[in-house]
Amino acid sequence: MRVVSGIQPTGNLHLGNYLGAIRNWVRMQDDVAAKGGQCLYFLADLHAISQPHVPAELASNTREMVAALVACGIDPNRSVLFNQAQVSEHAQLQWLLNGTARMGWLNRMTQWKDKAGKNREGASVALFTYPVLQAADVLLYQATHVPVGEDQKQHLELARDIAQKFNNDFGAGAEVFTLPEPIIPAEAARIMSLRDGSAKMSKSDPSDMSRINLTDDADTIMTKVKKARTDPEPLPGEVAGLAGRPEAANLVGIYAALAGTSQAAVLAEFGGKGFGAFKPALGELLVESLAPINARFVELRQDRPALDTILHQGAAKARALAGPTLDRAYAALGLVRG
Ligand code: TYM
Repeated sequence: MRVVSGIQPTGNLHLGNYLGAIRNWVRMQDDVAAKGGQCLYFLADLHAISQPHVPAELASNTREMVAALVACGIDPNRSVLFNQAQVSEHAQLQWLLNGTARMGWLNRMTQWKDKAGKNREGASVALFTYPVLQAADVLLYQATHVPVGEDQKQHLELARDIAQKFNNDFGAGAEVFTLPEPIIPAEAARIMSLRDGSAKMSKSDPSDMSRINLTDDADTIMTKVKKARTDPEPLPGEVAGLAGRPEAANLVGIYAALAGTSQAAVLAEFGGKGFGAFKPALGELLVESLAPINARFVELRQDRPALDTILHQGAAKARALAGPTLDRAYAALGLVRG
């Protein structure tokens, strides 16, 4: 088993990242090691330049995100933790895969359509070819499993299509790349905004009230939950009663994911009660779950030399793992490298 996943260092970790992906990263770290496999987790800083950004902020966000991941439980001694920019093999493989990816495939990516919006002519080429870099990220390490939230599923399918076409066209009967499987958590595949139950919780939402950041203190968390949008009805007794109530469904889903239980179990406890009773319980559960992460993060983020050492050492391990696959890809394409 080879587990690979990434996160963009564009600001703080939020609850969607944590429940949708990072918590699975931490769980897999233990499970996979027990089976003799390996986990690689990286900061997708090369992806971050596909949209307008402030260079000094990208550098500090990258270090902050390492501190956040370690605070969440990623252990740099057990997992390979690094940033893409220090492993040039990612960019090299992307170029090789650009020969295999089709314009039509990329044109169908919903993230491209959402982020480019009506201004396609003005969008960067990097935003368009972003999913090819993402394919390179996982194929470079022969990833078998990729833990992500629901929103990344389409990108993973594209990575599989690219791998399959490359193997067919250039593999000469052998598999150059492994086809990766997405691992998407059942209870927290898509955590929605606290202000709008139809939009995913996201770093790019201009309203900070729309998300819970892992750096929020207890008072901020309680306020955000209290102000979260809801409807006037009490909670239903059964999951079917959440249909057509996206905000209620989201809050119940968050509670279930944090408590490690199902939505049905949460509704068995809170069904018939109003949000006046449910919101404080959810707020307390959030504070209790996030406080230890917050405390570790605040301590770790101060230690810039330690964070740089983690990234430096992680990059050396990643390069060693990436080398053989990149060599095979160059050779398969008939490229002469001396
Ligand atoms: P990013 O940085 O947007 O998000 C990191 C992870 O968090 C998940 N996620 C969510 N899950 C549930 N609910 C939400 N509201 C929510 N918001 C974010 C994402 O699904 C993701 O798993 N392109 C990727 C980064 C990337 C990557 C990769 C991932 C680059 N290369 C290779 C996997 C493999 C991204 O921008 O994720």
